[in-house]
Amino acid sequence: MPGDIKAKLKALGREAQELLDKADTPAEVETLRIKYLGKKGLVTGLMRQMGSLPAEERPAVGQVANRIKADLSAAFKARIETVAVTRGETISLDVTLPGRRHRRGHQHLITRTMNEICDIFTRMGFDIAEGPEVELDYYNFEALNFPKDHPARDMQDTLYVSDTVVLRTHTSPMQVRIMEKQRPPVWVVIPGKCYRRDSADMSHTPMFHQIEGLVVDRGITFGDLKGVLTAFVHQFFSPDTPLRFQPSFFPFTEPSAEVSIGCVICHGAGCPTCGSTGWLEILGSGMVDPEVYKFVGYDPQEVTGFAFGIGIERVAMLKYDIDDIRLFFENDFRFLKQF
Ligand code: PHE
Repeated sequence: MPGDIKAKLKALGREAQELLDKADTPAEVETLRIKYLGKKGLVTGLMRQMGSLPAEERPAVGQVANRIKADLSAAFKARIETVAVTRGETISLDVTLPGRRHRRGHQHLITRTMNEICDIFTRMGFDIAEGPEVELDYYNFEALNFPKDHPARDMQDTLYVSDTVVLRTHTSPMQVRIMEKQRPPVWVVIPGKCYRRDSADMSHTPMFHQIEGLVVDRGITFGDLKGVLTAFVHQFFSPDTPLRFQPSFFPFTEPSAEVSIGCVICHGAGCPTCGSTGWLEILGSGMVDPEVYKFVGYDPQEVTGFAFGIGIERVAMLKYDIDDIRLFFENDFRFLKQF
């Protein structure tokens, strides 16, 4: 049996060598090389059969096989050069050819915007935290003082994983997680992904990003909320961007305010983007409702605080004049490379 493989290998070697001597184009040589030495080639195939030999016979056969393979490889290399030279072709490297440039990658506009917003808040003394996207109903709703029958808990908006587990519909559950773990003072922002059962259109996608802010300390007032959010708007948009605070409602803040900026498109004159109002809503905010403190063991007689939630896509669209939120997630390079 070992003699068999040895003999077959030698015969293959001779056969290949004979055919090679007759091949006179580079293509013919290459075809032969693949036939004998390729991954599925004849020599390669035989060498694979060596595995079935008794261990003590393998080295001797292996030696022959390796020698034949090496000799053949050298013969192919020599032949292809001879053939090319007689045909007046040169196989050489043209070092004057221009190189292939690699394009440099960069961060997605959402990532950049999120980092930029985080930087603005860290400069004001905020910490950064992150939390789970798969969240307990308890944190997403219950501890945020959503009544059991609140419409936002409806299957319409919320993607349920089970009766008690949801994909978080906002970053606000992190308010509760942080207060559970940390005593005041709290100054923190939490960027991250959120999910809602929306079909995609120009202003909705089932996944989007928010950055949550939470401040709790002794003596925090609505004036602090206004000051911090005004500083944010002036740094993120421009120092002369007008902003407006209007009464709103959230179960976990009281009083609540939605913040709008002067329309970046028409500057107040009225246009389709701002629905002719001259204003664009960019975030929800408010003073932390004392009901929420009950869930985390904070004493509302001791501390007060405010919270806010900024829609990342929303502010990025306004800052960079993007009219369709779906562009962020389609991965069209022509869009992405602009930022
Ligand atoms: N979580 C709210 C939303 O998604 C925004 C918000 C955050 C409002 C914090 C008030 C305070 O709409």
